[in-house]
Amino acid sequence: MKLAFIGIGNVGFALANNLQKKNHEIIIAHNNIKSKSVSQAQERNNAFKALPVQNAIDLADVIFLATPFKLNEEILKSLDFKGKTLVDCTNPVGPGISHGLESKFSGSEKVQEWSTNANVVKSYTIYGFENLNNSHFLNYNVKPVMMIAGNDQSSKEKIRILNSDLGFDTLDVGNLSQSLHLEHMTLLWVKMVRANGHHPNFTWAYLERK
Ligand SMILES: NC(=O)c1ccc[n+]([C@@H]2O[C@H](COP(=O)([O-])OP(=O)(O)OC[C@H]3O[C@@H](n4cnc5c(N)ncnc54)[C@H](OP(=O)(O)O)[C@@H]3O)[C@@H](O)[C@H]2O)c1
Repeated sequence: MKLAFIGIGNVGFALANNLQKKNHEIIIAHNNIKSKSVSQAQERNNAFKALPVQNAIDLADVIFLATPFKLNEEILKSLDFKGKTLVDCTNPVGPGISHGLESKFSGSEKVQEWSTNANVVKSYTIYGFENLNNSHFLNYNVKPVMMIAGNDQSSKEKIRILNSDLGFDTLDVGNLSQSLHLEHMTLLWVKMVRANGHHPNFTWAYLERK
């Protein structure tokens, strides 16, 4: 697939780099070609192209949003996603690792509201970027799970394919409104690791008895 990345920092680079190795085409959707993270990403992987944001969106099959949440409204308001899939990798985090929107609604529902003609899917948010850099747990015969939420089934199917390429099993937890609960899972992981010192190289797995 052709994949555009708005934001190519910790999260964007980890996903783009591993997906490029699985033969996806990566386009950095930049708003500033002099950005340090854009040049660093291209130094680390010279297969990445870079285009202004709307041009990158126009070429892409799937667009990833991996930017600081507080910038999202400003970034998104001038763009047209033309019915494409927008993967929301962002998390609204407030003071003291609280929910940044006071748990009234999810960040992903705001991303959907701010985006023109996008089918938003929340994914890649419930773990730190360390597990997006490396999602392989060789001593187990189950894969790590990636939980996703969204309203558009065909968009979620695309993300299921990308998850599989990255080494994740996909658990579809339902409509985009379920994102609020995924964002609370994020806060659990972040508090454990970033505040309480748990090591970052761990994920959740999905086990089901039929
Ligand atoms: N860090 C984690 O472990 C983790 C895990 C899961 C989800 N998340 C979420 O993922 C998001 C990104 O986190 P991160 O750690 O990857 O952040 P980061 O390393 O700071 O990267 C942010 C990226 O956004 C770009 N950006 C900023 N303003 C932009 C604009 N107006 N247009 C286009 N690009 C812009 C930055 O470019 P410049 O270099 O030019 O500023 C940079 O490439 C956050 O919402 C975070 O909550 C983080």
